Amino acid sequence: MAETQTYAEAMKLTDDTVNDAIRILATSQGNVDEIEHAVETGGLTSFTWDYELSRPPLVKLYEKAKSSQWNGTTDLDWSIEVDQLKLAQENAATNLRAQMMREYASKDKTCPLYGWTDSDFDKLSIEFQNWLLSQFLHGEQGALVCTAKIVEQVPWIDAKYYGATQVMDEARHVEVFARYLDSKLSGHYPINVHLEALLDEIIRDSRWDMTYLGMQIMVEGLALAAFGFMHMMTSEPLLKKLLRYVMSDEARHVAFGVLSLKEVYDDMSAAELRERQEFAYEAAVRMRDRFLMQEVWERLGVGAKEMVTWQLQQSNSDDEFTPFLFSKIVPNLKKLGLLDTEDPWLRDRFTEMGAIEFENFVDTGDEYEALDEVAKDRAAS
Ligand SMILES: [Fe+2]
Ligand SMILES: [Fe+2]
Repeated sequence: MAETQTYAEAMKLTDDTVNDAIRILATSQGNVDEIEHAVETGGLTSFTWDYELSRPPLVKLYEKAKSSQWNGTTDLDWSIEVDQLKLAQENAATNLRAQMMREYASKDKTCPLYGWTDSDFDKLSIEFQNWLLSQFLHGEQGALVCTAKIVEQVPWIDAKYYGATQVMDEARHVEVFARYLDSKLSGHYPINVHLEALLDEIIRDSRWDMTYLGMQIMVEGLALAAFGFMHMMTSEPLLKKLLRYVMSDEARHVAFGVLSLKEVYDDMSAAELRERQEFAYEAAVRMRDRFLMQEVWERLGVGAKEMVTWQLQQSNSDDEFTPFLFSKIVPNLKKLGLLDTEDPWLRDRFTEMGAIEFENFVDTGDEYEALDEVAKDRAAS
């Protein structure tokens, strides 16, 4: 990044830079030893003196949230011993991107991993797991902070009630991911620069619906898909139960976004909706960039630039992993009316990303009750 260029300029997305490894790598990790990261919060804090509960779907969600609270200390069995290599190998064996890398490493000399051995891939799988869980952890803290902001700023009492339960849920998620990383895995990663930029943007925006869109729909929608993927792949009982319970909460959180924003967007002008579409698209690109995991390649001593470039090249053909990350986001954006405004701009962007095929999947506003694993366990015991 040139010295005169601001961080925002270096990260700017244009049609020319969206798939440009130079843009993606044009940011340093900042100060990786930083303990505190302070960001100015945009917008006003709202009180309301109207205590009438006038939004039945949010009231129902709030009741569900109160009855489905769980305790990470007592509901999870932390005495379970985890064999990280076994866990990492098992995940890699079913991870579409890992499989693709292995395949190319065995046959394609242009792949930067050409010639890698099983032991090299084991190291990658372990680092990937440390990295992924670390990013889940940082993302959970992002959700904790953003939801607290929503509680302050949303003017509806029923949304403040529900948001307060989500703040508790997110504290629990930060707690259990931190504990799993510390006691069961073998290393931490600092927050990925693209995830950090996205969280900063969401917090800085003064419009409360943007916090909802950025966090509840985009970041949490991606988390729901990614947790679901990992839950499906793993047989490690502690992680599996942890993810089942976290996902029960996350489905409510995404539903909170869908049910709230539907009301807001129904009254918006085309110009206002276009701003929301652009915000959603930029968030999607930042999250895609994050999954190029540049810091893992740096730590393993593989050229980050080569690997980021190589992964971007595969994205139009063999990459089935990235579109899957948007499998929860696309149907929710459709339900909110953001996919199909008069101008098909956002639809075209998700078509380019290979994720439009998910548009008719069930949206989370309808799906969340079916995902309440905590209630299912309680009914069975
Ligand atoms: Fe969470
Ligand atoms: Fe959440």
